[in-house]
Amino acid sequence: MPKSPGGALLQGFTIERESKVPIYRQLDASLRRLILDGSLAPGQKLPSTRELAQELGISRITVKTVYEQIIAEGYAQGKTGAGTFVADGLDTEAFPKVRTPRRREKPAGVGISDRARAIAASKSVARYGETAPFRPGVPALDQFPAKLWQKYMAEAMARDARRSLGYGQVNGNADLRAAIARHLADARGMKVEAERIIITSGAQQAFVLIAFVLLNQGDTVWYESPGHIAGRDVMQIMGASVAPVPVDAEGLDLDHAIARHPSPALIFTTPSHQQPLGTTMSLGRRLALLAYAQENSAWIIEDDYDSEFRYRGRPLPALSALDSSRRVFYAGTFSKSMFAAMRLGYVVVPPEFASTFATARNLLGQNSSAVVEEAMARFMEDGRFNEHIRKMRRLYRTRRDVLFEALSQDCAEWLEPQRTDAGMHMVAWLKHRIDDQVAHEALLEAGIDSLPISVYCIEPLGRPALVLGFSGADERLIPRLVKRLAEVLRNLAEAG
Ligand SMILES: Cc1ncc(COP(=O)(O)O)c(C=O)c1O
Repeated sequence: MPKSPGGALLQGFTIERESKVPIYRQLDASLRRLILDGSLAPGQKLPSTRELAQELGISRITVKTVYEQIIAEGYAQGKTGAGTFVADGLDTEAFPKVRTPRRREKPAGVGISDRARAIAASKSVARYGETAPFRPGVPALDQFPAKLWQKYMAEAMARDARRSLGYGQVNGNADLRAAIARHLADARGMKVEAERIIITSGAQQAFVLIAFVLLNQGDTVWYESPGHIAGRDVMQIMGASVAPVPVDAEGLDLDHAIARHPSPALIFTTPSHQQPLGTTMSLGRRLALLAYAQENSAWIIEDDYDSEFRYRGRPLPALSALDSSRRVFYAGTFSKSMFAAMRLGYVVVPPEFASTFATARNLLGQNSSAVVEEAMARFMEDGRFNEHIRKMRRLYRTRRDVLFEALSQDCAEWLEPQRTDAGMHMVAWLKHRIDDQVAHEALLEAGIDSLPISVYCIEPLGRPALVLGFSGADERLIPRLVKRLAEVLRNLAEAG
């Protein structure tokens, strides 16, 4: 039963003063209707006679009379000192039926835009619900300092309600944007003014905004294949023609794209740590890509989703750090470095786009919360963010090593793990022609998550592989899980 200390709001009807039906009849009929059609649940409290009389602008005696009437007829119960409640265990069958107009079904397909039809074709794998070990991209959520974060959230709520509990600023919290600008200078070698940063509800919202602002119907988007699934599908539903670009040892294969595809309005790339192959784009390729974009008036999305986690050597600065002609939109997220439920990310845009993006952010649904932005600004200012990254980097390195060792030892017959120096997942190439989709499904049944590399591909890669996330898997459990994984693959190889 819904708890409602103040009583139901009863906003589903009005009293019509001009009507010939007396006011008490109108109120009586409305209450019965709401009780019978289930809008008011059994046991739910009704507002006090004084409050309802005031709200409807009618006399308290009228409300009292109606309440007494519906109590007398068994629709409601009066409880001394507590108020009036919808009767418990009401048998609505015993009362006269209330007619509800029949809805006419729309024929299937009618009313759906062309854009929405493309949604049905999305191969985006749901990232929702609970995850099992080895799902790619999941941080060590049980290691997140939740108590500490609660303190920051509580402080953000309490600090200045007028500031924190409203819509916030049109482009996102100014202190947070300043903290991100400092972080990008420190961690990614980027010099950006905070005015160029727009806070989003994650990298995904950044992709939506970029596609919305930059793309016209039918524009070509060069997209890494294999590549990030949800970003690709956004480009598609925004009406772009998505052209697959393979990835070689130096990153996105620029020559291949130039030779095969029309020149693009937009190029989507993950230079720091190619999603999912793990390649780092070489300096030469970065410079060539930037030069191409400038000469051909193309824009670039740099998705820097997990660059905080590098385990060997110094990371190359971001592609954006080399972008003197300002062709790059840099998308960052806190989903990996903090946790996805906070729905916080950002996009660094060329200066002339800042105000369009801020307005688009709001018109398309400002999905990040001003109070979370405020808490995150302090978390970063106090050095807590860096502290957490350092801790997770150590932990993920261990988890990566344990997974690689276990796969090499117990699974070598069925797959070949690929070493990685960065990120939160590794690619493991399947042997014996085991289909990656089939392997993914069989593993799920055994309680092991993964993603088949084929779902990342626009064009077939010709080589099956599983993408295995190590960051979210407890290192003490990894060896046992890998034994189970080997058993599932053995069964598949023997069966097929
Ligand atoms: C390549 C890549 N980019 C970006 C994201 C981040 O998405 P979001 O910030 O919307 O949670 C993900 C998350 O799965 C990802 O894998």
